[in-house]
Parts: sequence; structure tokens; C-alpha cells
Amino acid sequence: MPAETAAHLPSLTIARFDKALHDRSAFSCGFGPIDNFLKSSLSDQIRAGMVAAWIATAEGDPAVLGFYALGAMAVRAEFGPEKWQRAGVPDIPVIYIRAVAVREDMQGKGLGTALVVDAMRRCLGIADQMGAAAIVLDVLRDDHFERRWNFYEDLGFRPLGDPLNPERVCIPMADVRATLG
Ligand SMILES: CC(C)(COP(=O)(O)OP(=O)(O)OC[C@H]1O[C@@H](n2cnc3c(N)ncnc32)[C@H](O)[C@@H]1OP(=O)(O)O)[C@@H](O)C(=O)NCCC(=O)NCCS
Repeated sequence: MPAETAAHLPSLTIARFDKALHDRSAFSCGFGPIDNFLKSSLSDQIRAGMVAAWIATAEGDPAVLGFYALGAMAVRAEFGPEKWQRAGVPDIPVIYIRAVAVREDMQGKGLGTALVVDAMRRCLGIADQMGAAAIVLDVLRDDHFERRWNFYEDLGFRPLGDPLNPERVCIPMADVRATLG
């Protein structure tokens, strides 16, 4: 995992999404479904208790520069590390990163890494309060798939090994704890 995450970024705040405070209107990450999720579905899904989202902004400017969203999920024990299989339960509780995105003009400056590291720290806190054995996400498949895959691999994510979801990657919470303490 890169030690330096956001060296070239302006002074940033990452705060829980608040539709009164965060201006989503100009946000575009270059991947339409994620932009639509942020602008059209997020508020409803938060109200329904399906996700929680965190937003990066620069000091004194409400424009959304990047965000991530988390939800609870279960994955089949057979697809994870051996200790999951030994537990004798069919499903393992994990935390799912539903989306991560950075505004196009801000990409490549370390903000995406900073957001995922922030998500990992938050997930560690959640895993202190309830069972969550890993963080899981689906790497979007399009022309940039390889770059995206490398981005998550550098952060410690590995394929889950689910043949029905070959783009699904995970990092065991123990590895997150060992890396971020
Ligand atoms: C993927 C993404 C979150 C990375 O954020 P970022 O701030 O650009 O990332 P960082 O600066 O911390 O790290 C750079 C790495 O991110 C990845 N990356 C950067 N731009 C990318 C893009 N447009 N598409 C896919 N991956 C990208 C690359 O691995 C890059 O490393 P490289 O330059 O050596 O190839 C961001 O590019 C983005 O929002 N892309 C569009 C939406 C998306 O793909 N979300 C992820 C869904 S699984």
C-alpha cells in the first residue's frame, strides 16, 4: 500500500454526506453510472438505510471532489480464505464498498487512494462493533479495467475467487488492521 497518499492535494475534508452541504451538480468521474448513483440514487438509498457515503471537499468549497459509499454484505464462505471455510457457516459478513470515485480533473493526484484508505480505517472501526471479516468491492469493467484493477491491487485487495463475480476483490480485515493499525 502506498505510504504517501495525498501529498499533492489541497486541504481536504472527508465528511458524511449531507445534501444541504455538498454540491454534487458539477461532479463527473467519467463513468456515468457512478455519477448517476451520486446524483440520483444516493439520497434515497441513504434514507432506506442501504448505504452510507463520505464526501471529499476542499476547504471553503462545497463542490464534491470525490466520494465513497459503504454497505453491509455477505459473501459465500467457500470463496474466501481457508479460515472462513473452517468456520462451518455458509455466509461471511463483510463490508462492501459500493462506489469510489474522484472528479475527473482531480484524478491521478492521490485522492482516490486517500478515499480508499479512509474507507479502510472507517471499516476497521465498524469491525470493532460488529462482525465484518473483510472489505469487498466489484472492480468496474470497461476500457480502464486493468488500471482500476491495479489501483485496488496496490491497496492490498485480491480476487475473492467467486466465479459468478470475477471482478470481485477483497481484503481481509486482519490485513487492513496489520497495515493501518
Ligand atoms: C479509480 C479512481 C477512484 C482512482 O482515483 P485517483 O484519484 O485517480 O487515484 P490515485 O491518484 O490515488 O491513484 C492513481 C491510480 O488510480 C487509477 N486510475 C487513475 N485514473 C483512472 C481512471 N480514469 N480509470 C481507472 N483507474 C484510474 C490508476 O491505477 C492510477 O495509477 P496509474 O496512474 O499508475 O495508472 C478514479 O480514477 C475514478 O474515479 N475513476 C472513475 C470511476 C471509477 O472507476 N471508480 C472505481 C470503481 S471500481
